[in-house]
Amino acid sequence: MAERASETLHKKLSDRLDFYEDLGIQLFCRDRTGVAAPDIESRAELSASTRFAAPDLQKEGPLPKPAGKPALQKAAPALTPVSPKIASLPVIAGPSLFESVEKITGDSLLKTREDLGECRRCKLHSTRHKIVFGDGNPKAELIFVGEGPGADEDAQGLPFVGRAGKLLTQMIEAMGLQRKDVYICNVVKCRPPENRQPEEDEIRACSPFLMRQIDVIAPKVIVCLGAVAAKTLLQTNRGISQFRGEWLEFRGRKLLATYHPAYLLRNPPAKSEVWKDLQKVMAVLGLEVKKGKSS
Ligand code: URA
Repeated sequence: MAERASETLHKKLSDRLDFYEDLGIQLFCRDRTGVAAPDIESRAELSASTRFAAPDLQKEGPLPKPAGKPALQKAAPALTPVSPKIASLPVIAGPSLFESVEKITGDSLLKTREDLGECRRCKLHSTRHKIVFGDGNPKAELIFVGEGPGADEDAQGLPFVGRAGKLLTQMIEAMGLQRKDVYICNVVKCRPPENRQPEEDEIRACSPFLMRQIDVIAPKVIVCLGAVAAKTLLQTNRGISQFRGEWLEFRGRKLLATYHPAYLLRNPPAKSEVWKDLQKVMAVLGLEVKKGKSS
């Protein structure tokens, strides 16, 4: 029994150390293979081979294009960018994502979930198994917003529980937090078939619920995981690489977009960029920022 617990603990520590090393942070010189640890110089060579090289964002695939001419010409609420670089982001004219939210007072996550109900507002309802509303601390200072549920999330009804979710959990723990400290949700609450990107009409149908979640949780910081979340909240068609890691403002809250964990699984060297982004978030939240080679 005690042996099993110690094996589990060892595995957890080992995974955590792997994660830090992927980020370029070498906390300890250790031997987890049973063979002698390579000397510092050869370890440096090893990690240099996995060091960050500018990610090829084309591999992430294009952002969904706005469908034709928007039905309504009412502009979405203006962005208040912190960075001058993004000051000229084009605003997509279209139905305001916030129209329904603005009328609501005394809202709550429970009420938002009740209003979502057994949703049939878009075509994703016909293929989903479970609605994935969101999970975590309803009073979190930090929200992570992903794209949409995958197969594991669809089966369990919880966000980020598959491979990408395990990486997100490691990222959260590397920040000195636990999943229960933050709130995690997605732009769309039902799985797009074959894990395709959510389409414009699906995002439009689901976004009011995301806006209500953000409003009622009232976090200090919103982290958009990937282009779909960033595009939805910032109402821009710009590629995420143009504003990733920059502080922006969303309805009076600090927003930072970073790469999606699924992208990091395909491009591990980009983890060091994400770690730099998370360190910015940690600084704002008053969390101890760990010094590493990549910082
Ligand atoms: N990817 C997402 O964007 N969200 C999830 O919940 C899982 C994977």
